[in-house]
Amino acid sequence: MIAQGNKVQIVDHPLAQHLLTRLRAYQTAPHQFRRYALELSDFLVYEAARQMNVRETGVETPVGPAKGAVLSDYVIIAPVLRAGLIMAEAAQKLLPAARIYHVGLKRDEETLEAKSYYDKLPDSLPNDCRVFVLDPMLATGGSAVSAIDLFVKLNVKTIQLVSFVAAPEGIKRVHDKHPNVHITTASVDTQLNELGYIVPGLGDAGDRIFGT
Ligand code: PRP
Ligand code: URA
Repeated sequence: MIAQGNKVQIVDHPLAQHLLTRLRAYQTAPHQFRRYALELSDFLVYEAARQMNVRETGVETPVGPAKGAVLSDYVIIAPVLRAGLIMAEAAQKLLPAARIYHVGLKRDEETLEAKSYYDKLPDSLPNDCRVFVLDPMLATGGSAVSAIDLFVKLNVKTIQLVSFVAAPEGIKRVHDKHPNVHITTASVDTQLNELGYIVPGLGDAGDRIFGT
């Protein structure tokens, strides 16, 4: 695991890089893409969860007392629709007690700005909750910032972003507005192209996951 600054965590584990490479390949069919995406999500969420708080506790084994630790955060998983749904499946498996709040955003293909079409967030959330915003692609950062803004408005202090691939432009936009957001990704790619796609990236994540 490589940390770029202390707010960008690059998961360089061989298994994660293998899966990312399979996801990048244009020959990977949607059914394979979904399988690799689920597996990569497991690794990324697992690494992102290193930031979580635990409470020390005692436990009795069949042989005697032991020291232990249990997760102590109130966790929210926030998948950005559509592509983030596959990551939520993995995150829910790892963090079964988490609440899931879906955030519906669609990037306007012309302006590249994210437009909201669905959010069903509550009026308030516990101050000490930890939100994992899940979006496979951090391109211009417009979608990520819009999703993060929703939780900041609810006074959430601890927000993490998990993405398969991040563009430097997207990381900068997120950290310019929300410097405390911790980003976990399998790769920081080179740049965006003129259409706002990450280069080399993996193409349109939503289309590849859902075969559209
Ligand atoms: C894609 C992707 C991200 C967003 C990233 O979603 O899944 O959510 O674009 O781009 P940005 O960083 O420039 O905002 P899209 O809006 O195409 O929706 P989809 O997941 O439904 O395909
Ligand atoms: N959305 C995607 O799905 N891929 C990109 O490269 C950029 C935005």
